[in-house]
Amino acid sequence: MECSYFGECGSCTLYTLDYNAQCAHKQAHMRMLFEPLHVKAFDFFDSPSEHYRGRSEFRIWKEGNTLRYAMGTMDKKSTVCIDACPKVETKIYTLMPELLKKIENSAMLRERLFAIEFLASSKHLLVTLIYHKPLQDEWDEEAKMLENMFGIFIIGRSRGIKRVLSQDFVEDHLEIAGKSYCYHIIEGGFSQPNRLMNQTMIGWVLGHLENCEDLLELYCGYGNFTIPMAQKFRKVLATEISKTSIKSALINCELNDVHNIAFLRMSAEELTSALKKEREYNRLSDINLEDYSFSHVFVDPPRSGMDEASLAFISQFENIIYISCNPETLKRDLEVLTSQYAILHFALFDQFPNTEHLESGVILKRL
Ligand SMILES: C[S@@+](CC[C@H](N)C(=O)[O-])C[C@H]1O[C@@H](n2cnc3c(N)ncnc32)[C@H](O)[C@@H]1O
Repeated sequence: MECSYFGECGSCTLYTLDYNAQCAHKQAHMRMLFEPLHVKAFDFFDSPSEHYRGRSEFRIWKEGNTLRYAMGTMDKKSTVCIDACPKVETKIYTLMPELLKKIENSAMLRERLFAIEFLASSKHLLVTLIYHKPLQDEWDEEAKMLENMFGIFIIGRSRGIKRVLSQDFVEDHLEIAGKSYCYHIIEGGFSQPNRLMNQTMIGWVLGHLENCEDLLELYCGYGNFTIPMAQKFRKVLATEISKTSIKSALINCELNDVHNIAFLRMSAEELTSALKKEREYNRLSDINLEDYSFSHVFVDPPRSGMDEASLAFISQFENIIYISCNPETLKRDLEVLTSQYAILHFALFDQFPNTEHLESGVILKRL
């Protein structure tokens, strides 16, 4: 990838290496990190090195009435103005300069604009304009003109209030192992940033599912993995802390005609205490936990990894699939799990080219 802001903009850190060298560097680092756990080999999945990010956020920098996109610098101490970012999907890349020019021409849209977020899917592009001022009906009228002009969806956010002009979600289509899946993804919930790598990750997981009975999933988001995995299991219990994501997950069951998943808005910690019968929750009142025979647990926690109690709790099931966006916390959690589990497969997915970040997938079986 070529970018005129390499070395200044803090969002790319591996810019001195070409893409093949980056992949080699990441694999060498992972071999060193996981050597104490006797991991000898990884499946490695590379990504297009540019135009791979389907969601992105930029600060807005003002010079008089002129607006610029801005990112943090390498040392995180100041900001650098940019006119383009070659990491973002082409749809976003093309829109960015044209959108900013139009916003600049309107005092209503321009004033006190603080940041812009983009969320692209196979079908849609949703743009969130974030302000430091209350938004009124006049703002809606002008923003609506932008929506129509560019064929996008726009949301205004200001002081905790969200103004939705047409819709606050995108619809995405994935092709996995010869099947199509349709997803409703609401703005504000988590979504995997690299859509191509996301498809690869789900396909990799599906290819390694064997002897399936029921599935327990923690940190399920909008059902990104859950929906395709459900076809392999009798029943699925999937939980997630975000109300927004659970709303999408329920819609995604309908969209894909999947009827064997129970989605619950619960933190991993709450579910663990409920399954251990330490506490009762009304949210679980319609679910008979005795009906489940979990052969597999699937977890995809945030960067902080799993909490101690949930990790100890999942250590009773035959098969664990662990997806991680942070090798350090993955290692910490695998150090606990490998006292009772063998690592059968370990894959690296380069979701974040030009950065040190890397996504991993690990399939574990009870010893
Ligand atoms: C890395 S994302 C994965 C989501 C989903 N698997 C996907 O592929 O889109 C982690 C998810 O965990 C959720 N989360 C964060 N902390 C949690 C907790 N303590 N309990 C349950 N879910 C949590 C977040 O809202 C987010 O949706």
